[in-house]
Amino acid sequence: MEQLITHTIDLKNGNINDKRREIRDYFEKTWAVDELLYTQLKSHEIFYHRGDPLRHVLLFYLGHTAVFYINKFFLAKIIDNRINPAFESIFAIGVDEMSWDDLDERHYNWPKVSEVREYRNKAKAVILDVIDNAPLKLPVAWDDPFWIVMMGIEHERIHLETSSVLIRQLPLNEVVAGRFGFVCTEFGTAPANEMLAVPGGEMKLGKPADHHFYGWDNEYGSHTENVADFKTSKYLCSNAEFLEFINAGGYETQSYWTEEGWHWRNFKQAEMPLFWRKDGNEYRLRLVAEEIAMPWNWPVEVNYLEAKAYCNWRSAREGKTYRLPTEAEWYRLAEQCKITDVSERNSTPGNLNLEKFSSPCPVDKFPQGDFYDVVGNVWQWTETPITGFAGFKVHPMYDDFSTPTFDGKHNIIKGGSWISTGNEATLHSRYAFRRHFYQHAGFRIVESEQPLVIRNNEYETDSEVTLACETEWTNPGGQTQNFTQQLAAHLLEITNGKPGKVLDLNADTGRLAFELAPFAENITAIDFSARFIRMPVQMLEQGFMRYIVTDECELLHYREIVLNEKVKISGSEKIQFLQDNANNLKALYSGYNLIVLPQLLEELTSPVGFLQKIHERLLPGGLLVIASTYDWDRNHTERSERPGGFKRDGEPVSSYEGIKEILSAHFNEIVPPVNLTQIRPLSSRTSEYRICEVTVWKMKG
Ligand SMILES: [Fe+2]
Repeated sequence: MEQLITHTIDLKNGNINDKRREIRDYFEKTWAVDELLYTQLKSHEIFYHRGDPLRHVLLFYLGHTAVFYINKFFLAKIIDNRINPAFESIFAIGVDEMSWDDLDERHYNWPKVSEVREYRNKAKAVILDVIDNAPLKLPVAWDDPFWIVMMGIEHERIHLETSSVLIRQLPLNEVVAGRFGFVCTEFGTAPANEMLAVPGGEMKLGKPADHHFYGWDNEYGSHTENVADFKTSKYLCSNAEFLEFINAGGYETQSYWTEEGWHWRNFKQAEMPLFWRKDGNEYRLRLVAEEIAMPWNWPVEVNYLEAKAYCNWRSAREGKTYRLPTEAEWYRLAEQCKITDVSERNSTPGNLNLEKFSSPCPVDKFPQGDFYDVVGNVWQWTETPITGFAGFKVHPMYDDFSTPTFDGKHNIIKGGSWISTGNEATLHSRYAFRRHFYQHAGFRIVESEQPLVIRNNEYETDSEVTLACETEWTNPGGQTQNFTQQLAAHLLEITNGKPGKVLDLNADTGRLAFELAPFAENITAIDFSARFIRMPVQMLEQGFMRYIVTDECELLHYREIVLNEKVKISGSEKIQFLQDNANNLKALYSGYNLIVLPQLLEELTSPVGFLQKIHERLLPGGLLVIASTYDWDRNHTERSERPGGFKRDGEPVSSYEGIKEILSAHFNEIVPPVNLTQIRPLSSRTSEYRICEVTVWKMKG
């Protein structure tokens, strides 16, 4: 195996010709180690077996890693011709199970192993041709051909690990031991584990855009988090420690499990970790291609749900608060232990990168600072569901790598395992799996009094909300200022740049409030819909909002709106966003210098009644600004409640005239009405235009 040892490539520094050779070598070794993995299958027949009933047959993965390069090269226009369109379709997409009871019942006519091997040979020739001849410059940028080459290589390295997990799930008589590196033979009693203190601090997460390694899109962006002091276990949780949980009835006690965990346990009838076997009174452990007597001093391998149940059992037993680390706590631990990244170290500090063993090893073998196995041996589950950092952008050549996992259901694993290589072995890598999923993964526990805060950065998909986001936060139709920006400018003009205390009665996605905030004394912005108000609240708390818009039927655009790129953050502390009902305005909404009704009047059940009383909410000399299309809804607003848009005594009464008549008791109109155009993009090629009349009324006296 030693001749196959590699590290991911520095894509920034070096000489062009050397770099081309380096990448060629990295590709060839990746290809070779991938093929070596499958030599553990007893016969060709086994390629048609599934390691996991919820995943494809193993043959899929043999074809998939090759097809991936060709599909991405073709998509990126690096090559003009496909090799085998049929193969490039059937080997294109893996199965991402949604739940533990999902079954992939589609029927596939898998080709012969020899045909797949033949395809792999052709693909390899094409890939080498690209590596030898595609333009190469340093640093390699996101959209360069060599970024796509690296994408193919790192993708193959991910599958090296995930396929090894599938082979580990095949019946023992279908695999052959001894063909893939050396299994550790150090067995013994597990060391007594202890909790050691880690001082808290501010952690800055996220890979810089100009980092010298290839990265998946989810690694970039930035995130700052304050980590409180915590304690964590010196060693990963060992098989011996986990046995105590089993012996204490852990798998039979619902109170230790999360609701999701208990459902999974019951569905699977799980009584012990997936790779444990019970033989009489003895436990054994299944490795990738062999079974051994239980190595009690090795780390236990479980899914998140089991790890969490263990923490809850320990908490109940000891009266303390145990849980798994968050992503930021893991980085804090790594920093404390002075773990350096691949390019900054002379030797690999643990059981990582296939450099030590082809299996886990004792938890007390590789010290790193005061702890062991902060990186390497087996992955470590965290409490943190994966989401993009602020500034996250989807890589257009692999747009479904990350975003389907940003659903709150995929937790991050850190540290890497004995078979984690390439990008997986770098500090910035961010891999996440469903909580019931098995990898070569275990855990270390954390003791902390700090309440666990799970960030919720999911993408909004409600089409009404996302349309409002597009309308308010982009510049549809090429308008240099969209409707909301024009309205804000108008409001600042009529108030001489000092709007004072402001009430926005239709907050929508918050743009108007953010535009006015730097100039206002304070702003209260309310919206009838909790679905809408959620967006500006998130914007206020986290500085960005995310949503998905659909286009041309199935195509999706992932949008991220970052506050300080659109509007200066200054003043946002003056904004309060509330969900409330303008039809029945509470008494507390009083004492304003400016009340704005952006497209609200036409939504009210009683516009007339509203206009008759709105002066009560304003300070003397205060302004009322109405922006309306006067699109009264006949079903929603009674004729008698509409200020205009009808005939009275046979003569037309426009809405504007009607409003003027009602407001004349308490207001004067101070500037002529203006028309502002709102473009609402229904798709990238279809928009709805609305022309709002904006009128400005000043309280008398
Ligand atoms: Fe894949």
